[in-house]
Amino acid sequence: MAQRLDESRRRERDQESARRELIAWVSHDLRSPLAGIRAMAEAMEDGVVDDPATVQRYLRTIGEESQRLSRLVDDLFELARIHQGTLQLHPEEVALGDLVSDVVAGAAPGAEARGVRLVGEADGLPPILVSAPELGRVLQNLLDNAIRHTPAGGVVAVRGASRPDGVLLSVVDECGGIPADDLVRVFEVAFRGDVARRRDEAGGGLGLAIAKGLVEAHDGDLTVENHERGCCFTIRLPATAATAGR
Ligand SMILES: Nc1ncnc2c1ncn2[C@@H]1O[C@H](COP(=O)(O)OP(=O)(O)OP(=O)(O)O)[C@@H](O)[C@H]1O
Ligand SMILES: [Mg+2]
Repeated sequence: MAQRLDESRRRERDQESARRELIAWVSHDLRSPLAGIRAMAEAMEDGVVDDPATVQRYLRTIGEESQRLSRLVDDLFELARIHQGTLQLHPEEVALGDLVSDVVAGAAPGAEARGVRLVGEADGLPPILVSAPELGRVLQNLLDNAIRHTPAGGVVAVRGASRPDGVLLSVVDECGGIPADDLVRVFEVAFRGDVARRRDEAGGGLGLAIAKGLVEAHDGDLTVENHERGCCFTIRLPATAATAGR
């Protein structure tokens, strides 16, 4: 009894701290860029800034920042749908080899620009019942992270394996390994590692929380572990995936 009470108090505390972190996140990640956009627009409107080069730079920044903000708002919506259980999956028999090649082809230009070699080997897997757009999104999020954290000259690989009770899809990178303290936190909403936070292109820290939610909606799980040169995210999907939302 006492143990159950402790457990429920701990869960409440965790939920409360997750809520506080999300509020801090919204305030920092949405409000600060909005304040920046407003300041630039006002400076141009008031004529404080009028030399053409600066005006061009402000306009470009405003455009880029608005795009980034609308991506963040989309991600927040997706996360809310997952948490509320209103996510609608549309399961169909999917040839995983094709899905993996499509996502790999979409990520290839980004990988090439960073000098990262991208390889995908998921042929020969049995078709599986999943919601293709959502599974594609999960792979895209994982590939996006893997490519961003792998230095030029490194390799990012997508691998598939068939198991009696389902399939495994792994994204293996050469990021050098995730610090042990971070490894247990990467799936938290708004969590960003130190290195990611220091970079200009840092995202909202929502990608992995969304990916995990989408995989769990398929009754699967998403886990991470380090290997000698980097880390490996593994999606496990049961043969009867995609039962949610039907
Ligand atoms: N493949 C990876 N290699 C090394 N670190 C990673 C990798 N994937 C995630 N991480 C760490 O986990 C954190 C959370 O990842 P997540 O995808 O949720 O957020 P993000 O990439 O920072 O932002 P977003 O995905 O919302 O654009 C990252 O900031 C990074 O510190
Ligand atoms: Mg990400």
